[in-house]
Amino acid sequence: MPSAPAGALSNRSAASRPARSARIKRMTPASPALRLVHLSDLHFGAQAPGAAQMLLEAVIGLSPQLTLITGDLTQRARNSQFIAARQFFDQLPGDWLAIPGNHDMPLFRPWHRLFTPRGRYRRHIGDATTSHVDWQQLRLALIDSTNPLSWRSGRVRSAAARDAAQWLAGGCDGQLRIAAAHHPFATRERGNKGGMAGANIARNLLIDEGGADLLLWGHLHRSEVRLLASDAGRNAIGIGVGSPTSGRHSSEGLFFHQLDVTPGHVHLVVWRRHMAESLFYPVGNHRFVLGPAGWQAVV
Ligand SMILES: [Fe+2]
Ligand SMILES: [Fe+2]
Repeated sequence: MPSAPAGALSNRSAASRPARSARIKRMTPASPALRLVHLSDLHFGAQAPGAAQMLLEAVIGLSPQLTLITGDLTQRARNSQFIAARQFFDQLPGDWLAIPGNHDMPLFRPWHRLFTPRGRYRRHIGDATTSHVDWQQLRLALIDSTNPLSWRSGRVRSAAARDAAQWLAGGCDGQLRIAAAHHPFATRERGNKGGMAGANIARNLLIDEGGADLLLWGHLHRSEVRLLASDAGRNAIGIGVGSPTSGRHSSEGLFFHQLDVTPGHVHLVVWRRHMAESLFYPVGNHRFVLGPAGWQAVV
């Protein structure tokens, strides 16, 4: 697959018009390191008081070039909640990309859930719920893992995973290849909290055929970092991030992640805020280097 020009957005579901969710503008890093912030499960409509502002100030302080938001932007997919989410995203430094989560489809309006489940998401956040993005040091496959027929659990179809893998495989040397979905690539496919049907097939396709370096997800409201081995034995970095704003499942705190990337090296910083605190603090560092069998942790 030919490489798209730097800064271009390949948008499979809305090829004729740019997606608002992919607000790609000047993305020229000031230094060789590329800084990303990974957010998920902001749940506008059910946030702890002041949580969005505390998060915004923390992210502004880091000046990331790109913020990725892996779903559950809202609590109940209401217009007012999407508007609040969009206003938040538009205040972020740098660019941002978002994908929907299971909470971003209406729950109590079955007709809309069945026939226009992502209508409000598209109206307020972006035309594309699945995006393939190419920019200098990054090649991203953002996968819509939501399933209107299931409340919590998600799914990724083999065709979508293969499509994403082919996109990643077409990247240039030196590009970091990232696949992201709301639901976890690494868990039971049908767990109590809702795994992602097709996760095992997708993981193997993305790592072995796509050469994915990072697999990102949210949904579980917990921060987790681990190496994910494909069946062929290549390692990618698997990163799930907790919610930075929702009080649900927050006994361990509220989380977001900072990722600093240079060729062959990824440095992940885990940021946490306890509910009683007003600031996020760095509470974990994970470093990875690229070796012959994929990524390995630096201890
Ligand atoms: Fe969530
Ligand atoms: Fe979720």
